[in-house]
Amino acid sequence: MKWRDLPKILLLIPTVLSAASSSRQECDNDGTTADTTCKITEKAKQTDYMDPSKFKKLVLSFEEDESILPQLRGTIDNVISKADITAFISALPKVEFVKASGYDDDINSNGRVYAAPEGYAAIGLKELKTSSSEAYNKLLQMREHVRSTTEKALHLCPGSLYIDFTTISQKTEGGAHTPHADNCIHYFDDGVVTCDPARVHPYPNRVAASIMYLNDPGNGNYEGGQFYFANRTNHGEVEALGTVNIDAGKMIYFTSGIENLHGALPVLSSGGGGREIVEPRRLALAMWYVFDPSLKESVDDSDPNDPTEIFTLLLPESVEVTSLLQYIGTYIVSLQRKPTIGAWTVSKYGHSILHILFKDHSAMFSMNFMDPHQLTDVSSRIVVERHTDVNKRPSLQYMLQESVLLHGVLDELSKFMSDRLFDENERVSVNDGLEAARKKLPGRQAS
Ligand SMILES: *[C@@H]1O[C@H](CO)[C@@H](O)[C@H](O)[C@H]1NC(C)=O
Repeated sequence: MKWRDLPKILLLIPTVLSAASSSRQECDNDGTTADTTCKITEKAKQTDYMDPSKFKKLVLSFEEDESILPQLRGTIDNVISKADITAFISALPKVEFVKASGYDDDINSNGRVYAAPEGYAAIGLKELKTSSSEAYNKLLQMREHVRSTTEKALHLCPGSLYIDFTTISQKTEGGAHTPHADNCIHYFDDGVVTCDPARVHPYPNRVAASIMYLNDPGNGNYEGGQFYFANRTNHGEVEALGTVNIDAGKMIYFTSGIENLHGALPVLSSGGGGREIVEPRRLALAMWYVFDPSLKESVDDSDPNDPTEIFTLLLPESVEVTSLLQYIGTYIVSLQRKPTIGAWTVSKYGHSILHILFKDHSAMFSMNFMDPHQLTDVSSRIVVERHTDVNKRPSLQYMLQESVLLHGVLDELSKFMSDRLFDENERVSVNDGLEAARKKLPGRQAS
């Protein structure tokens, strides 16, 4: 499994989705009724809409009865008109896309190595909101239309599907996704795909997704880049029949488990055809869905997901921030198996932030390695913040392990910097900073 293949967005989402709330789904079509049965309109009844529990059973039944698979995926043309899409694309900020990157499995050593994937970047609601209100408002309309279209296509009760994450993905030359499921980490057993129960997926609650193409090869100056369904029983081979031709406004929808192993072919340059060479760029609107309303993506002004600061460490100028990030990232990766396998998952957000997610998904923390030029005042710094979901508290185990890990991180920071500081004043101020940070953490655990 390559981390880059995890649907984004562990890499992008600044909050954690909590694991596995098994709260009973209440399907109410008009937003006012709370009932465990699906109260549906006459019209909906005729087309046999399912409530979430019935739907989940249907999804699971694919193991015995493959003939239901066509009910779990499909494509729809012209979901949004070309004119609306063109208007949206031209309102999109060009430079705000965040390069996604992550950690790859090192095939030779079973450990993980730090790696940045090629040609893949994305922009989420939050970033869009601050950079273009025109694009943001258009996106809000589009996403609701895409959500309800997905719900309808899957024959789900109106109002039962909630959006847990929205992103505009941008793939440039080489950008591709190898086959993956959206709610578990898979492996192949004799060529047949299986969910690995030993590995924690960041978004186990996802039930469906939709991808809508936002530009045509001609407009984006690219070739390739098609979404495909992969063969579950043949090592995830690309299914010729499952490759979806690109057409702006066309949407693909599918349930999130191994029944719909999927990927995207690499984006290639179309060479410009004698015209001025423009970098190829393939754009799509990717959305993921859940049944649990508490996991719903926030679009409010007040952001209850705002993180809390754990500590901030000022860095002297002589410390090169990028290599420090690299060093600390590698250190945390080496601890990913402590205290148990899969305890921590590290990923990179943009070029300066590490996200460190705990296995119980009750919380995560981020480390932002800020260069002087990113700030209005001058000094570089590391800002460490804890993130939780709305109304969720970090588990006790998270709090204990976070403290252990951060004490270790401070030791490593001290090691890294003591090799590089020549100035006595810098040494004193760094040591003071490290001590102040330690005081903000609970006491070191006896090891
Ligand atoms: C998937 O692979 C199996 C085994 O090679 C093959 O029999 C089957 O036809 C393939 N399915 C598709 C849809 O390509």
